[in-house]
Amino acid sequence: MSEKVRWGLLSTAKINQALIPAIRASQRGELVAVASRRQDRADAYAQEWDIPRSFGSYEAMLASGEVDAVYVSLPNYLHAEWSIRAMERGLHVLCEKPFAISLSEVDAMIAASERTGTVLAEALMYRHHPQTKAIGDWLREGHLGEISVLRGVFNFRLEERDNVRLVPEWGGGSLWDVGIYPLSFAQYVMGGPPLRVAGDQWLGDTGVDESFVGQMHYDGGRLAQITSSMRTPLQTEIEIFGARGRLLVTRPFNDMADEERRVTFHPAGGAPQEIPVPEMDLYSGEVEDMHAAILDGARPYLTRAETRDHVRTILALYESARTHRVVSLPD
Ligand SMILES: NC(=O)c1ccc[n+]([C@@H]2O[C@H](COP(=O)([O-])OP(=O)(O)OC[C@H]3O[C@@H](n4cnc5c(N)ncnc54)[C@H](OP(=O)(O)O)[C@@H]3O)[C@@H](O)[C@H]2O)c1
Repeated sequence: MSEKVRWGLLSTAKINQALIPAIRASQRGELVAVASRRQDRADAYAQEWDIPRSFGSYEAMLASGEVDAVYVSLPNYLHAEWSIRAMERGLHVLCEKPFAISLSEVDAMIAASERTGTVLAEALMYRHHPQTKAIGDWLREGHLGEISVLRGVFNFRLEERDNVRLVPEWGGGSLWDVGIYPLSFAQYVMGGPPLRVAGDQWLGDTGVDESFVGQMHYDGGRLAQITSSMRTPLQTEIEIFGARGRLLVTRPFNDMADEERRVTFHPAGGAPQEIPVPEMDLYSGEVEDMHAAILDGARPYLTRAETRDHVRTILALYESARTHRVVSLPD
């Protein structure tokens, strides 16, 4: 393989716009191709974004021998199929969240990566950002004392009614789409998946959860509550309550340059203290992590076990919401 990772975009998804600058900013990668289901769309996209090669089918790009890694930015229900097809061609895969919408698909993806010796990672960009890492370090240093409760929110308003996020069998729904952010943040802080969960949802007219509330119970008596919705203005927040006070994070997942972004420690009985966090492009971390895994053989920062537990917990929450029962997660 060349010195630089040659990237191909698998689709012309909106989210590509976030990854393209991150690839271009890197010394270790280059964007060489885009694939679309239609040649004219691929050509127009390649022209708009100044990408050298365009393919009129996903398969054509995978078979071209011109890319080393693909970014799978397809609708959720296609993540597993196309990630596996790419790995079968010996290509490395950065796959958008949620990784897949069933555990059997996740396991098939992991098995394909092991069989083919390719790198496979979940594109959960905020986990790579220094803000998230700084919060993790700060909590581990014990400033908040013993953690009891975490509260997390990711809400936004989905205006278009023909969006893939509203199709139940395609992995639509607010929990799959954005609830995964506070859910994965809770898993990061708590150090693993919950023991049991309880969820409730509001189903819109297409049958997907347009709002979801999940409660999660961890070992040591720790609890988390997460909210996701497609029915409100954009709002993201994480609040962590510990023995010494609470930590409030106002922009935990998106647009890190937002002027409302704050990480503030409210100590019990003391004045609030802002915790400084380094600036970095939100999407560069996941790209550099792929480069290190592909070029240096480093282990991806976000482990497969963590990714698998994100999907496992979401499935348990959906089961709980459907059955109105508390659902345990087996070890
Ligand atoms: N990490 C983040 O910050 C972030 C943010 C937003 C979304 N995401 C994730 O990224 C993925 C894509 O989201 P997006 O909002 O960017 O998607 P999008 O704009 O709707 O694009 C999805 C692309 O998939 C292709 N596609 C293949 N089959 C399709 C079908 N049956 N219906 C519609 N499109 C189909 C289309 O490309 P062609 O027509 O070119 O084939 C389309 O452009 C999702 O998994 C989502 O969860 C991540």
